[in-house]
Amino acid sequence: MSARASLKVRPMGVGDLPGVQIIEHASFSTPWPAHAYRQELEGNRLAHYLVATLNRAIVAYGGIWVMVDEAHITTFAVHPGFRRRGIGERLLLGLLDLSIARLAREATLEVRLSNLAARRLYEKYGFRPVGIRPRYYSDDGEDALIMTTPPLAEPEMRDRIAELRAALDAGPAPSPTADASDIGDAMVPEDAEPSEARS
Ligand SMILES: CC(C)(COP(=O)(O)OP(=O)(O)OC[C@H]1O[C@@H](n2cnc3c(N)ncnc32)[C@H](O)[C@@H]1OP(=O)(O)O)[C@@H](O)C(=O)NCCC(=O)NCCS
Repeated sequence: MSARASLKVRPMGVGDLPGVQIIEHASFSTPWPAHAYRQELEGNRLAHYLVATLNRAIVAYGGIWVMVDEAHITTFAVHPGFRRRGIGERLLLGLLDLSIARLAREATLEVRLSNLAARRLYEKYGFRPVGIRPRYYSDDGEDALIMTTPPLAEPEMRDRIAELRAALDAGPAPSPTADASDIGDAMVPEDAEPSEARS
C-alpha cells in the first residue's frame, strides 16, 4: 500500500475516542472530555465528526453541527507530530464535503484571534472574518474571530475547493512517521465541558 493510500478521512466512532483525546489534550487549553465527545456521537443529531487516519492511527479530527442551513465547525485539530503536511487541509475538505452533502448553505466557525495557523488554513479555504465574539474563550478571555465561507454552492467556492483538492492530490503524500520532537502524548484528567466551540 502506498503512503498516499494510507491517509483516510472517515466518520468518528466511539472506539476512536482514546486517540482523539490524545490530540485534544495536546492541542487545546480547555480540552473537551471523552464523555462530551461520546455525547456528541451518540446524542446529538446535528453533529457529524470525522477522523483522519494514517496507517490506521488517528492523526486528526474535526466536527460540524448542521443547524438549519449552516454548518458550524465545532472542533478541529491535527496531532502536533503530524502538522504542516496537508492533513488539516484533507480534514477540512472532508468537513466541507459533508456540509455540502447535508445541504448547508455556508460554513462558519470561531477561532482565537491569536491562532494564526488556523486562521491561515481557513482563509485558504475561503473563510472570511465577519465579526468578533468578545472574551469568548473562558480560560483566558481571548476574543474569537468569527469566520464564514461564501455560499458553498457558488462557483467561487466550488472552484476554490476543486483547485485545492487537485493541488493536494498532485502533491506528496503525508509521511506516516511523526515528528518525534513534537508529539504531545500527555493525558490529563477529564475537566471542561464543551460550553464553547473552539473552531
Ligand atoms: C491549525 C491546524 C489544524 C493546521 O493543521 P495542519 O495539518 O498543520 O495544516 P496543513 O498542513 O493542512 O496546512 C494548510 C494551510 O494551513 C496554514 N497553516 C498551517 N499551519 C500554519 C502555521 N504554523 N503557520 C502559518 N500557516 C499555517 C497554511 O495556509 C497552510 O497552507 P500552505 O501549506 O499552503 O502554507 C493545526 O495547527 C492544529 O491542530 N492546531 C491546534 C488546534 C487548533 O488550533 N485548531 C483550530 C481551532 S479553531
